[in-house]
Amino acid sequence: MKNDRWVDVGPVKELKKHKLRQIVIGKTSIALIHKDGEFTATSGECNHEKGPLGKGHLKGDYIYCPWHGWHYHRKTGHAEPPYYTACLPRHSVKEKGGRLFVNLRPENRRVQFPHPPHPLSRKVARRPGPIRMAGISATPMSKTLGRYSTSENLLETALNHAKSKLKAETKLIKLRELKFNHCGGFYSIDERACTWPCTFSQIDEKDQLSEVYEALVFWADVILIATPIRWGSASSLYYKMAERLNCIENQLALHDNRLLKNKVAAFIITGGQDNIQSVAGQMLSFFGQLGLFFPQEPYIGHSRGWAAEDMDNNIGYVKTHSELRTEAKHLAERAVTMSRLLLKDVV
Ligand code: FES
Repeated sequence: MKNDRWVDVGPVKELKKHKLRQIVIGKTSIALIHKDGEFTATSGECNHEKGPLGKGHLKGDYIYCPWHGWHYHRKTGHAEPPYYTACLPRHSVKEKGGRLFVNLRPENRRVQFPHPPHPLSRKVARRPGPIRMAGISATPMSKTLGRYSTSENLLETALNHAKSKLKAETKLIKLRELKFNHCGGFYSIDERACTWPCTFSQIDEKDQLSEVYEALVFWADVILIATPIRWGSASSLYYKMAERLNCIENQLALHDNRLLKNKVAAFIITGGQDNIQSVAGQMLSFFGQLGLFFPQEPYIGHSRGWAAEDMDNNIGYVKTHSELRTEAKHLAERAVTMSRLLLKDVV
């Protein structure tokens, strides 16, 4: 045909050694497949986030994208049902004189998956209104038995104070009540594979970390995070959440897309034993890199020290020492003051 652009991609004998490979010619990427004695070719760019399909793997007749596993038929380019209407561009191939040629003019157009944009992909804009404070409790706990949590109790104290005295809107998120995937480590494949919205938010409608993303990116001006100390670090739930926030930081690094603007973070750290400063150091470093601001004295902590293994006494201490609750209220005040400074032209 008139617009055909046949390109010699190499010796047939050599190309037959690979079931699937990515071939880049100028700006065009091709996924070249060799199966059952025949060559087929599709676009090498995945419909999802342009993952390099030729670097994925072949399972049956489907090419699996190496980034997040979307897959397409090696001959038709169609995705598997129920997404059959989505399709990759296909490319003709021919052998001549022991060489393989691929036609860069695709046989068909790319057809995207028929779904509306993800709610988290909407534009970030602060909704007018009073200062909003989201508390995130990272304490792990049995769902059925429950227990008193020193970090969560101080967080609730701070939130109640922010609501009643500082006239802030507040909400409390308990990570243990959310069902969410741990990070898939897509960044470790390729930084572009770590997407916003997070890939798990896009592909797993049951993933509930959207509640944290909504609060952090769209709703809150102040984030108060409370964690117990576990083996000298913040809790496993905290880290499970933090790793899933990589996609927020990555947007800045990769696309200059700042998702968190004019937001303040502060922390409540408690433990029967010591290491408050180390835990605070990690949290300050991480949330600083996410682009959050901190109030003066951005965290409060409580620990009775290395020798205090008597947890029941630790709980009793927190329950009866009102100065800890006063500190929690002051932390809320400092965070709200900082937020008002940042938002003075907005609120
Ligand atoms: S599945 Fe291919 S880029 Fe996400």
